[in-house]
Amino acid sequence: MHHRFWHLILVSITPYAQGIPNPSNCKDVEIPVPVSVPRFNIDVVVEDEWDTAALTSNLTRRDAGNTTSPLPIAGMTPAPTPSNFTVAATLCGSGCTVLILTHGIIESKLYWHPNFKGADRYSFIDATIAAGYSVLSYDRIGVGSSSKVEGLFDAQFQVETAVLGYLTAYARGTMAAKKVALVGHSYGAYLSAGSANHSAVDAVVLTGFSGIFDYFAPFVAGAGLRVAKLQDPKRWRSLDSTYLTSSDLFAETYIASEPFAIGELLSLLASYNGFHGVTAPILVLQGQFDVSACGSNCVDILDEETLRKKVFKTAKSIELFNDLPAGHNLNLHKVAPRAFELLFQFLKGHGI
Ligand SMILES: *[C@@H]1O[C@H](CO)[C@@H](O)[C@H](O)[C@H]1NC(C)=O
Ligand SMILES: *[C@@H]1O[C@H](CO)[C@@H](O)[C@H](O)[C@H]1NC(C)=O
Ligand SMILES: *[C@@H]1O[C@H](CO)[C@@H](O)[C@H](O)[C@H]1NC(C)=O
Ligand SMILES: *[C@@H]1O[C@H](CO)[C@@H](O)[C@H](O)[C@H]1NC(C)=O
Repeated sequence: MHHRFWHLILVSITPYAQGIPNPSNCKDVEIPVPVSVPRFNIDVVVEDEWDTAALTSNLTRRDAGNTTSPLPIAGMTPAPTPSNFTVAATLCGSGCTVLILTHGIIESKLYWHPNFKGADRYSFIDATIAAGYSVLSYDRIGVGSSSKVEGLFDAQFQVETAVLGYLTAYARGTMAAKKVALVGHSYGAYLSAGSANHSAVDAVVLTGFSGIFDYFAPFVAGAGLRVAKLQDPKRWRSLDSTYLTSSDLFAETYIASEPFAIGELLSLLASYNGFHGVTAPILVLQGQFDVSACGSNCVDILDEETLRKKVFKTAKSIELFNDLPAGHNLNLHKVAPRAFELLFQFLKGHGI
């Protein structure tokens, strides 16, 4: 509150860009983000639904990613590629610890503050402000109100990790954060861990995450991927044809679902070898029935020892809940308020 920045936030409550009211105490900003990192040369042509069917078949092969069926990536650019992006973010609260929220694929930042009737108890942002923390929640590049970017060349894991690194510096600088915790869901959990792998933060909280890719195929096959701009030309005309969405309305019942780019998945698969550079304390909160993380049953396959060995060798500590009664989108299940409590207990336990 003593920072002038927070005073400004408190007096200038702006309505949400799409007419969805923010929780009080929030404001929307556009943050210019320069990024300069090498890019993967992704060698995929996806123009229509036959191509997405072929891609799905290729990515769900039992030997996908092995030498007998390599990822369609022809190396990396020799030099970093400089870009300027605009990131649409919502800033909330007046605490000096900032939680930076990174949503998953087929979502936008609305995941952290859903707008369906009766959504209050599922709003992580509301719970976080009530617990005395501040929030920086943002749309990934390519998604929501952030810059539209090229789906193979720009929307890549290491580019988005660098964006998150920049936002972390923004939280420490512009928001005057004394402590920063990264909270990520699904692909956003990988981005959070990937960012903490390179630059120190005070804590990392991951949901929809196992660090294991053994169950990637049922998720990809089950999503029924479609070209977003063909599926809903009115909404997604401005995205190139490598942005995909799910086939089915039921997958979109609770949140305004957003497409994701093929480059995001392929660059993650190509980069991932664990996050053995993370030193912060880690909390993993898992719905037991998560398909993509655990093949619909996290119990028995996900434990702290496995996480330490395979994913986070250098983490200060690892805490895990692997049996919350939920599927992948933890925050949209009835257990959400309890999950939020566990998260705040973890932070407090680490003096955050
Ligand atoms: C799928 O794999 C086949 C065989 O390697 C390749 O010819 C084709 O271009 C791939 N299609 C897509 C869309 O990835
Ligand atoms: C992938 O390659 C490794 C190393 O050659 C081999 O051990 C493994 O069985 C292969 N997996 C599949 C699914 O083909
Ligand atoms: C990014 O913005 C900076 C500052 O305005 C400018 O100097 C630079 O040329 C821009 N880079 C690209 C790749 O557009
Ligand atoms: C994480 O950091 C470790 C150690 O610096 C490095 O070997 C690894 O490649 C990094 N992982 C990712 C996904 O960037």
